[in-house]
Amino acid sequence: MEEEILRLKAEALAALAALGEAGELETFRVKYLGRKGQLTGLMRMLGQAAAEERPRLGKLANDVRQELETAFEAKSQELAARAGGAGGPREDLTLPGRLVPFGRLHPVTQVMEEVCGVFAGLGFAVAEGPDVEMDYYNFEALNIPPHHPARDMHDTFYINETLLLRTHTSPMQVRTMEREKPPLRMIAPGKVYRCDSDITHTPMFHQVEGFLVDRKVSFADLKGVLTTFIARMFGEGGAVRFRPSFFPFTEPSAEVDIACVICGGKGCRVCKETGWLEILGAGMIDPEVFKAVGYDPEEVSGFAFGLGIERIAMLKYGITDIRLFYENDLRFLAQF
Ligand code: FA5
Repeated sequence: MEEEILRLKAEALAALAALGEAGELETFRVKYLGRKGQLTGLMRMLGQAAAEERPRLGKLANDVRQELETAFEAKSQELAARAGGAGGPREDLTLPGRLVPFGRLHPVTQVMEEVCGVFAGLGFAVAEGPDVEMDYYNFEALNIPPHHPARDMHDTFYINETLLLRTHTSPMQVRTMEREKPPLRMIAPGKVYRCDSDITHTPMFHQVEGFLVDRKVSFADLKGVLTTFIARMFGEGGAVRFRPSFFPFTEPSAEVDIACVICGGKGCRVCKETGWLEILGAGMIDPEVFKAVGYDPEEVSGFAFGLGIERIAMLKYGITDIRLFYENDLRFLAQF
């Protein structure tokens, strides 16, 4: 029995010396010192030894246990120190915490909020309407009857004979005027849809429609509101140009250009060497539209305008491909 105990001690000490990492300590403890370990097993067998031998063997076994436990403790500390913890906690509490990535608003949403904020500051209220629109509001009431050639300009997604995905936010002019009496000063932000896709067009994009109706509203009022808007969006002092154009629901109509934000008006690839960039369409509301909503065109007048949010965002940030907004590449989106 004595031999057995001494052999086990030698084996255990050798095994302990050979341990290379802290993870192996527990296996050692269970094998030699645990409740079902080899030393405990030997101690249980002491009862079978001769009565006069038992006290000596019991003391020997206890001394060996003591020695192994001390050696085990020393080895634990040595391995912990080697792992960098000097026996203490191994985490470095002075390291900075892991950063939580924060989301942010999509650039289109940011520009939409900025545009609406400028018009809110000019006293315009907000009206929202349906994306799935009636042909009547999207076209007919806006002086675009069936088979009118202006329908070709819109590349419409039709749902059936009378329903479609709205191609612009102008239907909200009609819906609002049907419901309310002048004076009116409204903007209508929202999504619009056209069967169109290239570096400056996407099938879904955002517009903000604006309109003001009252007595004696003139083109000068339209110019005043839009030049103020442009100055607030792009900074004071930039050149602005009102260029004659055509929309069936306004007369006269204009497209508004600003001096190219890339070249400052000298001419470059982005402005196609013209020095100008178109930013919105506008005009005086056509008498036919007033008649469709039951207003008397002799009594009231008004102006309307419509702008594309993606286009404004592209100009503001110098983005040359509109499709980047909708690819959901976080490296692109995180820059705004
Ligand atoms: C209109 O949609 C008119 N309703 C605007 C208007 C309102 C004129 C009130 C007069 C009075 P237009 O089709 O030009 O006009 O579109 C307006 C703007 O939407 C364009 O200047 C352009 O910036 C943007 N746009 C048009 N098609 C797309 C497209 N597929 N993708 C992204 N932006 C587009």
